[in-house]
Amino acid sequence: MNNEANSQLRDLYAAWSTLDAKHQPNYPAPEELEAVVDYLRTMPPLVFAGEADKLTSLMARASQGEAFVLQGGDCAETFETATADRIRSKIRTILQMAVVLTYGASVPVIKLGRMAGQYAKPRSNATEVRDGIALPSYMGDAVNGFEFTPESRTPDPRRLIEMYQRSATTLNLIRAFTAGGFADLSKVHEWNLGFASNPAYKRYNQLAGEIDKAMKFMEAAGANSESLRTVDFYSSHEALLLNYEHAMTRVDSRTGNLYNTGAHFLWIGERTRGINDAHVEMLSRIHNPIGVKLGPNVSADEVKALIDKINPEGKAGRLTLITRMGAQTITEQLPPIIEAVQRDGRPITWITDPMHGNTISASNGYKTRRMSDVVKEISEFFTVHSEMGSCPGGVHIELTGDDVTEVLGGAEEIFEDTLSTRYETLVDPRLNHQQSLETAFLVSEILRETS
Ligand code: TRP
Ligand code: MN
Repeated sequence: MNNEANSQLRDLYAAWSTLDAKHQPNYPAPEELEAVVDYLRTMPPLVFAGEADKLTSLMARASQGEAFVLQGGDCAETFETATADRIRSKIRTILQMAVVLTYGASVPVIKLGRMAGQYAKPRSNATEVRDGIALPSYMGDAVNGFEFTPESRTPDPRRLIEMYQRSATTLNLIRAFTAGGFADLSKVHEWNLGFASNPAYKRYNQLAGEIDKAMKFMEAAGANSESLRTVDFYSSHEALLLNYEHAMTRVDSRTGNLYNTGAHFLWIGERTRGINDAHVEMLSRIHNPIGVKLGPNVSADEVKALIDKINPEGKAGRLTLITRMGAQTITEQLPPIIEAVQRDGRPITWITDPMHGNTISASNGYKTRRMSDVVKEISEFFTVHSEMGSCPGGVHIELTGDDVTEVLGGAEEIFEDTLSTRYETLVDPRLNHQQSLETAFLVSEILRETS
């Protein structure tokens, strides 16, 4: 690496490391962390600057209604479940949803996995107490183990190396699946027909039938291009662990700009978006497309400050605001934020996260969500944006490709007393395969009405 590149990385480090960095693990041996970071810096990038730029221009299209974003995946990936089977079913679910959404929106759907790096979680309490014993909270596999023992819960920097390796193998599999025939449109469509033929989903039969007709028309007309067989699939995760994100940040030799090469898209969480804090500082200096999560208490001034800091020049696609207001409050909380953005004038890509404002405790103690709330928040998101002449650009969903029972509701209904059947998440409840598809059909119906 040349001196110029070295000095840019030193400047970056100096800029964020002197600021308040919230939700960072407390490593018992800082020198071990340093060794890990030095090692990670020698590892090859997982993504390239040109790919991140391409995603920025796609996100720009989504800011204008010319594309729609589907961002989905686990609340937290785990090392144990980063297996071929689980990854395949997650990709399959996202692709199936994408077909339905493409039809509904009549614009390209940007497939953005909450995958290949989503290994770290901020927690509301730094410690967890069980039977009078206090240990560090589980912060995701990148930080510590879920098992409630002192050994497992003590943050271990070597886990960052496994995060890198699991991200690399996951992304490799994603690239193989999405280019190697698995993403063929007609095959994905057949899976959807299988789903809609289940009597529980007869409501979606008509839409599936319409898509089938469109497919047959394309076939008859000889539409047979390479683009029907492959998809571009992008990776994203919350940029939480700043030492890891710093190690993955590199200088692009072509432009001399800084890029985070650990994922195509990175977002800043609701808990770490302080305007003078380290996370915002770091991400404001890298050239990937950036997201910021906004909860119901965000103010118009904060949003304006975030735009000033992260997208001062108003480049379309650079900044995505992912709102997570809650189904009950979105109609009150979202309009003033949209208004502030409209007054400002610089472009924003708007995504709804209908998961995190709708987390509840079931009467039997399970952390869950109601699918009806998820769908309600999405639907209100569309209504509010269209009433205000603003562009609803996409959805951010916590999902898995497996038949888990973590979220209440759905046509094959999950009830409070069936949550225990297959509740596997270590953090937040995810829509299962069927609930995810059902959501895609419902959103597709909304998209058709509004577009
Ligand atoms: N390449 C196109 C796209 O990504 C069409 C396509 C092929 C597609 N396979 C797909 C769309 C699977 C959604 C899902 O949009
Ligand atoms: Mn979550």
